[in-house]
Order: sequence, then structure tokens, then C-alpha cells
Amino acid sequence: MTGWFLASLHHVVFVGLIVMLATQMALLKLDPVPVQRIARLDIGYGATAGLMVLVGIARVIWGEKGWAYYAGNHMFWGKMGLFVLIALASIRPTLIYLKWRKAQRKDGAFVPETKDVQAARTLVGNQMVLLVFVVIVAAGMARWPL
Ligand code: HEM
Repeated sequence: MTGWFLASLHHVVFVGLIVMLATQMALLKLDPVPVQRIARLDIGYGATAGLMVLVGIARVIWGEKGWAYYAGNHMFWGKMGLFVLIALASIRPTLIYLKWRKAQRKDGAFVPETKDVQAARTLVGNQMVLLVFVVIVAAGMARWPL
């Protein structure tokens, strides 16, 4: 029962991450980019990613297979590596949104610069691609050794 609950939560949180990244990308295509909305969405995205880590750790501890199964599982470590890459790719967009928010507070007419919008789009796109690889590696992890 605990295994089922944690697995369901893990999948629901995954859907949440995808939806939030896709929405971020859509907002970055608006002209001008809605600064407050995207900054708020990014806080939600960070919290959801944090929840993913907690639920993932809970699955490792209280899931059906136990820590010993994952400790020697190369796909598990590959997945952790990909997750860290996603976290790293999310830092710069967050810093950009915070900078925009500060600038807009000072000057209500502030409009984000194209080079920042472009950089944020690229990094959000990179995170989406990495997430696809996370799912592929996750399927291998659950069936290890292949
Ligand atoms: C964005 C991040 C993540 C995504 C998209 C993701 C995705 C998935 C998916 C799709 C599965 C199901 C695999 C299958 O049964 O075929 C899974 C299983 C699992 N994930 Fe994640 N995951 C993420 C992060 C994490 C993290 C951070 C941890 C641990 C710290 C974790 C631990 C686990 C565990 C323990 C399982 C169960 C695998 C098994 O049945 O042996 N996940 N994950």
C-alpha cells in the first residue's frame, strides 16, 4: 500500500514538473514576458522539484525493493546525475526571473531583454529534454540488472 501510494505520488509530481516547464516555456514566448507570473510559477516549480526529491528518497527507503537494490544500480545513479543536471540548468532562469522582478518593481515599464529571454528559453528547453532521459533511465532502473 505504501509502495503504491509513493509510486502514484511520484508520477503525479512528475506530471506537475512537465506541466510547469511547458507553461514556463509558453510564458517565455509571450511579448512582453509576464514577469510576475513566471517568477511565481518558478517558485512553484522549485517546490515541486523539492517534493520530487522527498518522494524519491521515500521510495528508496520505504519502497518495495530497499536501498541495497539501488546502491549498486547504475541506472539509479545515472538518474540522480540527470536530476542534478536539471537542477543546475534551472539556476540561471531563476536568477534571470529574480532580476526581472526586481527591475520591474523599480520601473513598472520594464521589459525583459531579448538575450535573457533567449537564455531562459534554451535552459528551460534543456530541462525538458533531460526530463525525457530521466524517464527512460528510470524505466531501466526499475528493471535493473537489464
Ligand atoms: C524529475 C525527476 C524524476 C523523474 C521524472 C522520475 C521518474 C520516475 C519514473 C517514471 C519511475 C517509474 C519507473 C518504472 O517503474 O518503470 C520512477 C521510479 C522511481 N524513482 Fe524516480 N523520478 C525522478 C526523481 C527521483 C529521485 C530524485 C529519486 C530518489 C532520490 C527517485 C527514486 C525513484 C525510485 C526509488 C523509483 C522506483 C523504481 C523501482 O521500481 O525500483 N526518483 N521514477
